[in-house]
Amino acid sequence: MRIPLPYRDGNAYDLCPTARFAPTAAPRACSIARLVFVTLRATLSHAHIRPMTQAHEWNQRYLQGDTPWDTGQPSSELMRVFRTEAIPRPRALELGCGTGTNAVWLAQQGLEVTALDFSPLALQRARERAAAAGVRVRWVEGDVLCPPELGGPFDFVFDRGCYHCVRRDNVEGYLNTLRQATCPGSAVLVLAGNAKEPREPGPPVVTEEELRSELGRLLHIVWIREFRFDQVEPDGVRFLAWSCFARRVE
Ligand SMILES: C[S@@+](CC[C@H](N)C(=O)[O-])C[C@H]1O[C@@H](n2cnc3c(N)ncnc32)[C@H](O)[C@@H]1O
Repeated sequence: MRIPLPYRDGNAYDLCPTARFAPTAAPRACSIARLVFVTLRATLSHAHIRPMTQAHEWNQRYLQGDTPWDTGQPSSELMRVFRTEAIPRPRALELGCGTGTNAVWLAQQGLEVTALDFSPLALQRARERAAAAGVRVRWVEGDVLCPPELGGPFDFVFDRGCYHCVRRDNVEGYLNTLRQATCPGSAVLVLAGNAKEPREPGPPVVTEEELRSELGRLLHIVWIREFRFDQVEPDGVRFLAWSCFARRVE
């Protein structure tokens, strides 16, 4: 939905022609109109405009190849957790799946995978990856904070690098999505930047306390460990990260 620019700039005055051309004609009507407008704008900016802008920005990054996280390989930490933990099956969901390296790997492990992202270009590449690998993944284009029907609940939810972005806007929205997507017994693995080593440029970071207090509102945190993201920076650095494994108990 496109909102005309003056509205986006917050010029409520422009909404009320009577105020512009005959200021005394209908002041009460204008106050009400202004109130309605301000409320509507606040709602729309969260529900539509902001995600659309952000989706465009992420899509541009994929278009320009500005995607240092996109190693083309499944996450070593995801594979490690699969070796060491009992991951419930068969239904898996990836939030913010990017070009699908992890979703395709999960499908190759025999899971029924649904993967969500709001970048159409990333999803197009993900579809091509799945086709090349000969696996089926249900790709969904949408906002993690307000997703379309995902068809859950899922036994396992994976997130590498999405939570640490969206929590800054709306952690409640993220938790709502997790709540809808899981049920008691579901397992969740979240990989996020670690605030002990913030780097610029680098991934957004969280503290262990933030992880525990935010995800702990919905999930039982089984463990949190440090690891380093696979991506290798030109200076040889690999970003410090958190791996948080949690279960939904109720
Ligand atoms: C750092 S990338 C990680 C991609 C993928 N998980 C990986 O490991 O390669 C973050 C991804 O989250 C997606 N994303 C960010 N905010 C989102 C939102 N609100 N809704 C859906 N996807 C989002 C971006 O488009 C991007 O693909």
